[in-house]
Amino acid sequence: MNQSVKEQVQQEFLNYFKIEPLLIFSPGRINLIGEHTDYNEGYVFPAAIDKGIYTAIQQSKTDKSTLVALDKNEQYEFTTNSISPLTTNGWQNYILGVVSEIQKKGKTIPNFNLVFSGDIPFGAGLSSSAALENSVVFGLNELLQLQLTKHEMIFISQKAEHNFVGVKCGIMDQYASMFGQKNKAMHLDCKTLEATIHSAAFEGYEFILINTNVKHSLADSAYNKRRAVCENISKLLNKPSLRDVKDHDLNTIKDKISLEEYEQALYVIQENKRTLQAVKALEIDNVSNFGNLLFESHKGLSEQYNVSCLELDFLVINAQKNPAVIGARMMGGGFGGCTINLIKTSKKGAFLTQIQQEYAQEFKQNCAIYEVNLSNGTQII
Ligand code: GLA
Repeated sequence: MNQSVKEQVQQEFLNYFKIEPLLIFSPGRINLIGEHTDYNEGYVFPAAIDKGIYTAIQQSKTDKSTLVALDKNEQYEFTTNSISPLTTNGWQNYILGVVSEIQKKGKTIPNFNLVFSGDIPFGAGLSSSAALENSVVFGLNELLQLQLTKHEMIFISQKAEHNFVGVKCGIMDQYASMFGQKNKAMHLDCKTLEATIHSAAFEGYEFILINTNVKHSLADSAYNKRRAVCENISKLLNKPSLRDVKDHDLNTIKDKISLEEYEQALYVIQENKRTLQAVKALEIDNVSNFGNLLFESHKGLSEQYNVSCLELDFLVINAQKNPAVIGARMMGGGFGGCTINLIKTSKKGAFLTQIQQEYAQEFKQNCAIYEVNLSNGTQII
C-alpha cells in the first residue's frame, strides 16, 4: 500500500468537499503469459500488483457530481441523470461508463464526488484503466449498497470500456484487478471464469517489468481489429470462439482468409497451448521451460499477431542475449508499455544497468524498471 498516495487522495477530497470519503485501492495487473487470448475465451495467467489506483468517493450534497484526476490536475462536472461519453475520450469516460453501465442494470445513482490518483503510469500496459473502473464500481456499490457481486462488477467495468472508451477488451484485466490474491497468480479460463491459484515464484528468480515509456497511437484501433479478425475466423468455422479451434480446423479455411489473418488466428491457438504448458512448468518448478515459453510468446506476438513495436522488441531481444534472463516478452495489449522478464536474482543488477544504458543509447529516451509484489484485489482501505 502506498500510504502517501492514499493520504493525498483522502486529504484532497477533504479539501474539496469537506466530508470524509470512502477510500478504495484497486490494483493494476501483470500477466505472466496468455496474451490476446481472453477475448477468444482462452487462458490467461495474470496477477494483481501492489501498485494501482486510489479512489476517494462520497455522495454529493448538491445537484452535481465532481470528478478530480489529481495526477492530471483536471476536474470534470456532470450530473448522473444525463450521462454520455466525452468525444475527447479522456479519463472521464472510464468513470462515466461505469455509472452508465450500473444504471443500465436499473439502479439509481445519486450525484457523487470522486478524487483519484495512482502509482501506475497510464499506458504502461499495467491496466490502470481496469483499476480505475473497478475502483469506481466497487466504491459506488459499497456507498449505495447496490448489492452487486464481484462478477457483476467486473462485467460492468468491461462494458464501460467497450461502450464509453471504445476498446473491445476481454475480461482479464478487470478480473485480475478485482480478484487478485497476495503473492499469487491466477490461471483463469476466460470461458468459464474459473481460476486456479498458483504461487508465482521460482526460487532464486524474480519477475521484473521494464517500461518502454512509449505508447503508440494505433494501439486501440489495432486491438479492435485483431479482435474482429478472431471473431470472423471462428464464425467461418462455426465455432463460438478460437478457444475451440484447432490448427487443422484453421487449415480447412486457409484459402478463404489472408495469410496475415491465418497467422493471427494460429498465434491465438498456440498461445493458449503455451499458457497451459506454462502452468505445468510452474507446477513442476521447471524455470527454463517456463522462460522459453515467454520468449516464444513474444515471438508470436511480434511476428504473427503483429502487436509489438521496435522498443518492445529491442528490450526482449537484448534480454534474450543475457544469460541472467530466463524469459521475457511484451505484456498486455502491445504497441508499447512493459515487458515482463524472468531474471536470476543474483544477476539482476548487472542486467538492469546494462539494458537501461542500451535502451537510452538506442532510443534517446529512458526505460523504467518496476519491481512489483503480487497483491490482493480491489478493496476498501
Ligand atoms: C488488454 C486488454 C485485455 C487483454 C490484453 C491482451 O490489456 O484489456 O483484455 O486482451 O490487452 O492480452
